[in-house]
Parts: sequence; C-alpha cells; structure tokens
Amino acid sequence: MRPVLTTRDIDTPELMDDPHADTRALARTYGRFGFVNALVSRPGTLYRRDIRPRALRSRRLRILDVGAGGGDLCRLLAWRLRHDGLDAEITALDADERAIRWASAHDRGAGIRYRRALTTELVAAGETYDVVLSNHVLHHLGDAELRTVLRDSVQLAAPDGLVSHHDIARSRMAHVLFDAATWPISRTLLADSFIREDGLISIRRSYTVSELAAIAPTDWIVRGGVPARLELRWEGDRARS
Ligand SMILES: C[S@@+](CC[C@H](N)C(=O)[O-])C[C@H]1O[C@@H](n2cnc3c(N)ncnc32)[C@H](O)[C@@H]1O
Repeated sequence: MRPVLTTRDIDTPELMDDPHADTRALARTYGRFGFVNALVSRPGTLYRRDIRPRALRSRRLRILDVGAGGGDLCRLLAWRLRHDGLDAEITALDADERAIRWASAHDRGAGIRYRRALTTELVAAGETYDVVLSNHVLHHLGDAELRTVLRDSVQLAAPDGLVSHHDIARSRMAHVLFDAATWPISRTLLADSFIREDGLISIRRSYTVSELAAIAPTDWIVRGGVPARLELRWEGDRARS
C-alpha cells in the first residue's frame, strides 16, 4: 500500500521510541546509525563547512548534539577534530536513557560527555555552546515540542554561536529510495534492527521545507538538500545584525 505523504504521520510512533522495545534490536539500531548517517547525512560536509572553521577560531569549541542516539556523529566530529589538532568539548544529549547508556559504552576513546536530559534542563542550568546541532531528531517531535527545542537551542547558543538541525525532508522520492536501498540488506546488515521500519516511519513523520519554514521563527533559515535533506539553521551573528 502506498503511504500517504501529503501530511506528517505523527500518530505512528517509531519502534525505537517504545519503552518496551526489544533491547537487542534497539542496541543493533544504535549500532547501525553510523552506517545510515554515512550514506545520507553528509557528516563530512557538516565538519568542513561548520565545525572546522569555528574550531580554528576557538580555543576549545563547545558542541552540543541534541538527540545524539548512538553517538556516532559526536564520535566522528571528535576524531576529525583530533586528527586536525583542534580542541573541542562535545556533549551528547539524549532524552532516552537507553541511548545514553549505549553511546557511553561505545565511546571508543572519543572523550564525549554523555547526558540524559532535555534541552530545557540545560537552559535552566545556564549552559552555552558554540554549536548546537541535531540529526534526525526533528521528526520525533510534535509542533509544540519543536518550538520548545528551537527556543532552547537559541538560548543554549553563544552570542556568535550556530544552531544547525538536520533531518530528512518528507517526499515520495525519499520513501521510494529508502525502501529500495534498504530492502536488499534488510536480512543481512540491517537484520534484527529497527533501521528499515523506523526509517520508513521517519520519512512519513518528517517535515517538508515549507512546513518547517511556516513553524520556525523568522530569524531561522530552512534549506533543502540532497538526498531529501533539510537543515533548520540559526546563526547568532546573522540573527542579531
Ligand atoms: C533517530 S535518532 C537519531 C540519533 C542520531 N542523532 C543520529 O543521527 O543517528 C533520534 C534520537 O533523538 C532522541 N530524542 C527525541 N526527542 C528528543 C528530545 N526532545 N530531546 C533529546 N533527545 C530526543 C531519541 O531518544 C533518539 O535517540
């Protein structure tokens, strides 16, 4: 059956968000996020365009990854920064204790700080960061939660800081491509994980560029990207000029 993609399907929860989810499948899902992100999230571009230039200007770049999941993006950034001789303090934040437990057990010497908390708790604690980012988190949120995360992100960003939220953009093409790409590996590489099912649900739950633009305050920029990507971006310098 062809899924309806004209509006967000926020009533279908992802399997990984079920508090009673099978722990082995959940662990395999966290373990496979790095593979998926290498294919679709372009972490190298994020590093070269947004992280490295700021790390070069900063004594110790403070990065917050909201909804870090298995922590693969944090680890990749930590290793690339270290490789380039740049210093950073990276915090992996997740609302789910299971993700934080898995990610901290798989730190592999990256030296990430792991925290189970919501952005609102960090705001209350007066924390600030040079870069606040997320990947594949926006589609987990309802519109009210999204507004909270956006408001918190700006409050958590330093005066000249950057907020960059990345996600899938909902489209028929994204659904068809993800379905076709994951079907052949569903019983091998992705076996006993939620990657394929949750990936398809994620696409149905995700925003389009115009939906996000309608929700985000005016000092945010929404950009579309390839393949079926979007970025919701706020820059302190630009917003205040
Ligand atoms: C699909 S995973 C993405 C993980 C990782 N960012 C990646 O790209 O592989 C989404 C993660 O966001 C977390 N999450 C959802 N809502 C959140 C919120 N309001 N605050 C913090 N984490 C949240 C979930 O617990 C989950 O671990």
